[in-house]
Amino acid sequence: MSKYSQERIVEIFDKAVGKKAIASHQSIPQITGKVAFERLRLEANDVLLDIGTGTGDKAIRAAHICYQVIGIDISRKSLEIASKKALKEKLDNLFFAYGSFEEPSKELDLAQYRITKVLAVYSLHHLPDQLKKRTLGTLTQFLHRPGRMVIGDLMFFEDPDRHSHQFDEIGYDGGDTDFPSGVEYLRNCLSDLDAKVRVERIYPLVGIIVADWSP
Ligand SMILES: C[S@@+](CC[C@H](N)C(=O)[O-])C[C@H]1O[C@@H](n2cnc3c(N)ncnc32)[C@H](O)[C@@H]1O
Repeated sequence: MSKYSQERIVEIFDKAVGKKAIASHQSIPQITGKVAFERLRLEANDVLLDIGTGTGDKAIRAAHICYQVIGIDISRKSLEIASKKALKEKLDNLFFAYGSFEEPSKELDLAQYRITKVLAVYSLHHLPDQLKKRTLGTLTQFLHRPGRMVIGDLMFFEDPDRHSHQFDEIGYDGGDTDFPSGVEYLRNCLSDLDAKVRVERIYPLVGIIVADWSP
């Protein structure tokens, strides 16, 4: 397993976005994204933060349903594409900005929005465990109550070595820039933040976590 480097991840996603070949062509990431989006249960008055938004497909879809959407990412190339797509759809309730799990408010002060839902699809796994824990704590500070966070991502329900033949299919690079957690680790991080946590297994190494905070 290599060391976490945000710069390397930016390089990979900045390069890959133009090629139209990331997660969208992989069936399991696609299913995961679809289920995660449904679990948000977006309502008209919701304000959604989509973190690691990529080229913004889910954020754009959400903007047709809820009050406001903010998509943040570390790949400026992805954000450019996302903004162009949003412009085409003439959406005025959607903002894309540079921001990371580590520093979500880097360019847009998230505290000024009444965020009620947070979505992270296939993005959180890029962080090593300790950073994930820290970032989940930071994100919950931006979340108003009642609030919901949905994570659809690589997470280990079983020993990954038993499924190495399917790493490509699930979008896992085996530990180069992907650092998925054991599912119990994520569950505990969120439970420790006083959330009511529900876990759904999509695949032995992929799942959805729905974390709810009551008023
Ligand atoms: C596989 S793409 C998923 C994009 C989108 N969520 C989707 O479902 O289509 C992962 C995204 O996470 C972003 N990402 C990786 N590390 C990040 C970090 N530390 N902070 C914010 N975004 C990050 C990448 O730039 C990339 O756009």
